[in-house]
Amino acid sequence: MTGIRLTAPAPGWSIDADVVVVGSGVAGLTTALRCAAAGLTTVVVTKARLDDGSTRWAQGGIAAALGEGDTPEQHLDDTLVAGAGLCDEAAVRTLVTEGPDAVRRLIGTGAHFDTTDDGTIALTREGGHHRRRIAHAGGDATGAEISRALVEAVRSAALHTVENALVLDLLTDAEGRTAGVTLHVMGEGQHDGVGAVHAPAVVLATGGMGQVFSATTNPSVSTGDGVALALRAGAEVSDLEFVQFHPTVLFLGAGSQGQQPLVSEAVRGEGAHLVDASGTRFMLGQHEMAELAPRDIVAKAITRQAQLNGTEHMYLDARHFGAEMWERRFPTILAACRAHGIDPVNEPIPVAPAAHYASGGIRTDLRGRTTVPGLYACGEVACTGVHGANRLASNSLLEGLVFAERIAADIVADRPHAGAEAVVAHPVTSPLPSPEARGTIQRIMTRGAGVLRSADSLATAAEELEDLHRSAALESGTAGPKAVVPGVEAWEVANLLLVSRVLVAAAGSREETRGCHWREDRPERDDENWRRHLVVRLTPEALVLRRTATEAFGPVRPSGAADCAAASTTHPTPEEP
Ligand code: SIN
Repeated sequence: MTGIRLTAPAPGWSIDADVVVVGSGVAGLTTALRCAAAGLTTVVVTKARLDDGSTRWAQGGIAAALGEGDTPEQHLDDTLVAGAGLCDEAAVRTLVTEGPDAVRRLIGTGAHFDTTDDGTIALTREGGHHRRRIAHAGGDATGAEISRALVEAVRSAALHTVENALVLDLLTDAEGRTAGVTLHVMGEGQHDGVGAVHAPAVVLATGGMGQVFSATTNPSVSTGDGVALALRAGAEVSDLEFVQFHPTVLFLGAGSQGQQPLVSEAVRGEGAHLVDASGTRFMLGQHEMAELAPRDIVAKAITRQAQLNGTEHMYLDARHFGAEMWERRFPTILAACRAHGIDPVNEPIPVAPAAHYASGGIRTDLRGRTTVPGLYACGEVACTGVHGANRLASNSLLEGLVFAERIAADIVADRPHAGAEAVVAHPVTSPLPSPEARGTIQRIMTRGAGVLRSADSLATAAEELEDLHRSAALESGTAGPKAVVPGVEAWEVANLLLVSRVLVAAAGSREETRGCHWREDRPERDDENWRRHLVVRLTPEALVLRRTATEAFGPVRPSGAADCAAASTTHPTPEEP
């Protein structure tokens, strides 16, 4: 038993279930609805309100080969190109072939997509897609509509939901099988403070970790809780170095922190141009798809051009859309820009890249199983192999949907039922950093592991993060004035620190440029040495890194397999046979 847990009070209350789903985006709610429909007692636990996760913020849409002349094979090709040699082809094939029907089932659940005059689903383009295949809703409010439909379905199915609940750690039985989770609820009455949901199947659908950076499109709940929990439970995570920076986020001024308004790629899909202050379209000549190149290329180009021009942002010019199109097609973005004093109908929008999506996450197989028996991961928190080194635009809602259905099918086939499994307490506790460290972590990560990375910047970031980790360890357990009181802020910062350490370790090890991992000191892609995944495990002593061949991605092998056990120091990268 290698499990590590957060310093927290013992659970004071408990709920029994067959399945607990943590997270309430498209991945979590789809899994929960399917499990409940099959007769399993299902509990949904979510950090804020049911509709507060990342799904609600998705603008552009959901990609699927739904249009005339489009095929899953073409969608596969575009996804593999964006993934820069690291996609697991079987996972992508699953996504693109099961995707169209999964979208139709979502429509059956009550989601309304925008349609053309003849009643067919309206499709747009985004970066990296050679076809119009992005279905959207409410113009640019696709996630909000999907979230609305799923929350309504969950309410009509009368699912047991626990809101305002931060998940803490995995519970396991004596054999190391999943037995539920501990969580902290800011509630009243029966479920308040630290408690437990006992269940033989746990599905983590907690979303991303954008809050490790100063500026992000992610909501404040995206603090890497699921990945951190999985690491403490001994599960493997993979590809964490591949953080996708969205090229066009409304620039709110240097040093602005937290969630920033997204300006969807669909705006470029409909013909907006990226220009510098003089009005020059700098993407022309850089890539055959110009503004619609894969988003890592566009994010890099914006960053480079800004450096060249000695500024911090570029502009997105869509004045030629006119007021009617702006209002009909992009009402959310129009309102967000106007709220910040920019009128896109009459002026170009200042834009800059910001952290957007974790292409890596908890390593799973095609059924969403992680390396810990009974623990599943779905959506942004998971690394199914679909995204490789860079996620193709609008593939994430689809991934959440398709793999949620697969996970539910797997759990239903296993028919786990809440039993009287003895739950064992993990012996090792993880030190709690001070809640004030949150801003420090974000600054370290933005400076050292942002769009531009180098061996030096990553080494400095690693050192600074290890300092924070060491001081947390020194201070934990002391009763002095610096002692950190366990609580939501401290647990969130512990999660941010852990995932940042892993991200930086992986980014420092990957000595090449690939997909959304851009090393200025290693500008070339190195297929011979680095067409590999970096898989990380946490032990009480160290972070353990190993490299795997891409073909080895699919079937998940049990944690503690021989190649992992051999590595016991921090950051070795033994090669998988
Ligand atoms: C966007 O609308 O540009 C974001 C879509 C995505 O990240 O998939």
